[in-house]
Amino acid sequence: MGDKPIALVTGAGWWPDYDPGIGLALAREMGERGHRVLVTDRELAPAQRSVEQLKSEGLDARAAVLDVTDKAQCKAVLDKLIAAEGRLDTLVNAAALTLARWGLKQFHDILPEQCDQEIEVTLKGALNVTRAALPAMYQRGAGSIIFISSVMGYEPSPQMSIYGLSKAALINFTMSLAAEAGPRGIRVNAICPGVIKTRVTNRMPPAHTEKFLRNSALHRVGEPAEIAKVAGFLVSEAASFVTGQAIRVDGGSMGIV
Ligand SMILES: NC(=O)c1ccc[n+]([C@@H]2O[C@H](COP(=O)([O-])OP(=O)(O)OC[C@H]3O[C@@H](n4cnc5c(N)ncnc54)[C@H](O)[C@@H]3O)[C@@H](O)[C@H]2O)c1
Repeated sequence: MGDKPIALVTGAGWWPDYDPGIGLALAREMGERGHRVLVTDRELAPAQRSVEQLKSEGLDARAAVLDVTDKAQCKAVLDKLIAAEGRLDTLVNAAALTLARWGLKQFHDILPEQCDQEIEVTLKGALNVTRAALPAMYQRGAGSIIFISSVMGYEPSPQMSIYGLSKAALINFTMSLAAEAGPRGIRVNAICPGVIKTRVTNRMPPAHTEKFLRNSALHRVGEPAEIAKVAGFLVSEAASFVTGQAIRVDGGSMGIV
């Protein structure tokens, strides 16, 4: 087993023609905190693009395909990582289906298949990766898991109800898993971002964003790095007594309604 801590970040690819997402900022933060980072996404090319960027910044990163809905692939990627590195210190679950996929829709307009797919990726995907990661973390008796939830997991999420439902479930799961994993040396926390400048929010109808910002204390959109810095704190020794928490990083959002 090497001395270097190992992190895996899901949904961390950088897609062509888009601003980088929160996943790349999370991977960068883990790299800057001394991790070797496995950058994953559902396709290899975006993960590789993120890795090229991180390497150009002097960080230690490599890329892998990890479709979080594919349970066999989750196990295979985690098994391969543990075989190569001997450890997994940090898991950051950032993959999600966001409105980049099908935009804002009221519940009665969402097709049943779209509902299923949202839950499959945003909720069950995070469970699949975490399930595959836990044995190695339990064996070492150390590690930190972060779920990227959303302010929509706390607040009503009109026109994104199934996304909000999935993110809310992750908050509850964070508390349950923290209780189970704490005695085994693992801390589990969630981060609930507000409106963060990414390809997703770039596509949000301006009126929707404006309403969010009006109902917030800081009246501005956040930067991916402002989420990543909190993740960096959560995986650090400074957060050694912090677990089972869902931390809102949302500029003081008071919701959209
Ligand atoms: N941008 C925001 O304002 C905001 C607010 C709250 C929460 N979040 C959350 O932050 C995280 C990152 O969001 P983002 O804004 O960077 O959006 P994004 O769409 O750029 O990132 C999501 C990533 O997940 C990947 N993904 C989708 N399906 C996948 C699958 N089946 N397997 C693996 N990866 C898959 C996508 O390819 C993409 O790279 C998400 O969990 C999102 O829900 C974002």
